[in-house]
Amino acid sequence: MTATLITNIGELTTNAAADGDPLGTLHDAAVLIVGDRIAWVGPASAAHAAAALHRESASRGRERGNDPASRPPVEPSREEGFEVVDAGGRAVIPGFVDSHTHLVFGGERADEFEARMTGTPYAAGGIRRTVAATRAASDDELRARLRGFVAELHAQGTTTFEIKTGYGLTVADEERLARLAAEVTPEVTFLGAHVVPAEYGERREEYVDLVCDAMLHACAPHSRWIDVFCERGAFTPKESRRILAAGVAHGLAPRVHGNQLGPGEGARLAVELGAASVDHCTYLTDADVAALAGSSTVATLLPGVEFSTRQPYPDARRLIDAGVTVALASDCNPGSSFTSSMPLMIALAVREMGMTPAEAVWAATAGGAQALRRDDVGALAPGMRADLVMLDAPTRVHLAYRPGVPLVHTVWTGGAAA
Ligand code: NIG
Ligand code: FE
Repeated sequence: MTATLITNIGELTTNAAADGDPLGTLHDAAVLIVGDRIAWVGPASAAHAAAALHRESASRGRERGNDPASRPPVEPSREEGFEVVDAGGRAVIPGFVDSHTHLVFGGERADEFEARMTGTPYAAGGIRRTVAATRAASDDELRARLRGFVAELHAQGTTTFEIKTGYGLTVADEERLARLAAEVTPEVTFLGAHVVPAEYGERREEYVDLVCDAMLHACAPHSRWIDVFCERGAFTPKESRRILAAGVAHGLAPRVHGNQLGPGEGARLAVELGAASVDHCTYLTDADVAALAGSSTVATLLPGVEFSTRQPYPDARRLIDAGVTVALASDCNPGSSFTSSMPLMIALAVREMGMTPAEAVWAATAGGAQALRRDDVGALAPGMRADLVMLDAPTRVHLAYRPGVPLVHTVWTGGAAA
C-alpha cells in the first residue's frame, strides 16, 4: 500500500466542521494518505510524528501475523519511507464533487449558443438535435469522447462526478449510454425522461409507458439514480411523478431537474418524494424555498446554464439564509452549459449568486457529496477517500478571486496523484 505525506499546506479545507467553521479550515497543516484513504489530518508540526506512528503500527501489525483484521495499513516494503510532498504553503481542498453532468453524447451545438448570444432564447427542444447525433455515433466514438471529458474534469480538480443518460431516448440507446457511463463512474442516472423524442409526436403517453417499462428495465442495472426533466416543453408534474415512482420501485433513487425555465412543481415534487436533489432551482416561490428548507433534498445550482443561456442566476443567498443545503454542479452538456469547470461554477456563484467564497467551495465539494448521498467524499478526515486538490494558490478564495486562471496544481484521486 502506498503512503503519502502532504505537508507544509498553507490552508487546508477539511469540511470537517469545527469551532463554528463549516469548512474546518486548518493553517500550516498536513495530510497523511495511506492507500486510497486519508489516515491522518493535523498540524504540519506533528506530521512526521504522525507518520512515524503509522509506521510503528504497521510493523506491530506485521508482527501480529496474518490476521486480516490486524493487517498493517502500510506494506512492509514501504515501511522505511512515506513519499513526502511539500505543498510550499499552497492551499489544499477536497476534490470537487460534480453531482450533475450529461457527458455521454454525440455532436455539439455551437450554432445555438451563437444564436442565443444575439437574443434567441434557450428552449428544451434543442435536446433533440443532440439525440439525433448521439444515436448516429458508435459506442467507440461515444466512449472516446466520454474519456476525453473525464480527463478534462480531472485536470480541473473534479474527483467524483455523476453522469445522466438522456440523449438516446430509445431502449437500446439509453441502455448503451447508461452502460458507457457506468464504465467511468458509479453515479449513473437514468434520464429517459429528458424530452419526448420527435418520433413520438403527440403520443406522449406511449413514450412515458416506454420509459417506465422497457427502458427502465434495460437501464436500471447500470444506474443508481432516476431523474426527470420536469418543465414546460419536457414532462408534466403528473408524468414526472409516475416516472420517478417507477424508478423507485426498481430500486433507483430519485433526483429531479426542476424550476429551470420558469416556476413549476419540480422542487416540491422532489421534496415530496424525498429526492436527494432538485437541480437548477432558478425560479422558486417562497413556498418552494420553505419546503426545501424543511427537507433533506439538496438544491443543486448550475450557474453554467445561466451563463450560457443568458438567464437570471438562481438566488443562492435566499436559499442558504432559509436553511436550504446548496450544491454547485456544472451540468456539462452540449446545449445549456458546455463547461466542466467547477472553479468557474465557484466564481459565478460568488460573483453572481450572493455566495461567499467559503460557501461556494463547500457547495462544490461537501454539497455535491450530499446531493449524491455520499459520505466517503467531499471532506478530508480519517477514513474518507483520499480525493484532494492542491491549488497553485495560497487560499481557496483564489478560485473566485482569479476567475478563469487554471489554479489546479496536483489532484489525488483515491490516493493516486495525477
Ligand atoms: O440540464 N435541463 C435539461 N437538460 C439539460 C439541457 C440539455 C440540452 O440542452 O441538451 C440541462 O440544462
Ligand atoms: Fe441537466
